[in-house]
Amino acid sequence: RTRTRIHHLQALKEKHEPWPMLTAYDYPTAQIFDDAGIPVLLVGDSAANVVYGYDTTVPVSIDELIPLVRAVVRGAPNALVVADLPFGSYEVSAEQALETSIRFMKEGGTHAVKLEGGERMAPKIQALTAAGIPVMAHIGFTPQSVNSLGGFRVQGRGSGADQLIADALAVQDAGAFSVVMEMVPAELATEVTHKLTIPTIGIGAGNECDAQVLVWQDMAGLNRGKTAKFVRQFASVGNELLRAASDYADAVRDRSFPGPEHSFTS
Ligand code: KIV
Ligand code: NA
Repeated sequence: RTRTRIHHLQALKEKHEPWPMLTAYDYPTAQIFDDAGIPVLLVGDSAANVVYGYDTTVPVSIDELIPLVRAVVRGAPNALVVADLPFGSYEVSAEQALETSIRFMKEGGTHAVKLEGGERMAPKIQALTAAGIPVMAHIGFTPQSVNSLGGFRVQGRGSGADQLIADALAVQDAGAFSVVMEMVPAELATEVTHKLTIPTIGIGAGNECDAQVLVWQDMAGLNRGKTAKFVRQFASVGNELLRAASDYADAVRDRSFPGPEHSFTS
């Protein structure tokens, strides 16, 4: 295999072949997902929630994310690695967006960056792409704006549909190589996918997008609590890990571990 590149994703759109994307935040999972043939790995700022335990993605910093990006790049020789720019690291100016993205590329080794926002982010996307930095956009529900969007809500319903379409066209015109659509009615996401020449990546956006993305802990069922409507758990890794840790604890307590086969002789 060779490294996935943007033109490969573009070719898949033209063939109407959907492709999978997952988040990754460390070396071992990046290796596993790369081996599974996942062509694009996102070091999401969802690390705020699933790695660092914050309530939202708002507090996570550049310095908390860059080491995760480095680990994922080391683990994934074939995937195109995308790094999320965290809240506060790109909104101020095109210069700030450039400086942050350059850090993610030079220190993290990422191949592309992702930022949240449609029309309002077009000037930043333009500045980044002009500097040779591939940009994945993210529209619809954008978690960094949870406080202005009034909570976790479907976007683009009713009169919001026109704005979503305008956002999608604006990020494409600004030079984004792809766009994530989060929590958007399936029909609207399909319409946008047909309108755009760049790949659309859905999360809670129906099954007609050019690609799908999930947070890997949701995909694998690491979290044992309730999940969003758009999540399908393909395993129950959380329950399996709980069972393993409980069995290990029991084995230590009853001295059945370590056995002779795990012990050294003199
Ligand atoms: O941070 C993240 O994991 C994301 C994806 C869910 C699209 O932005
Ligand atoms: Na994100």
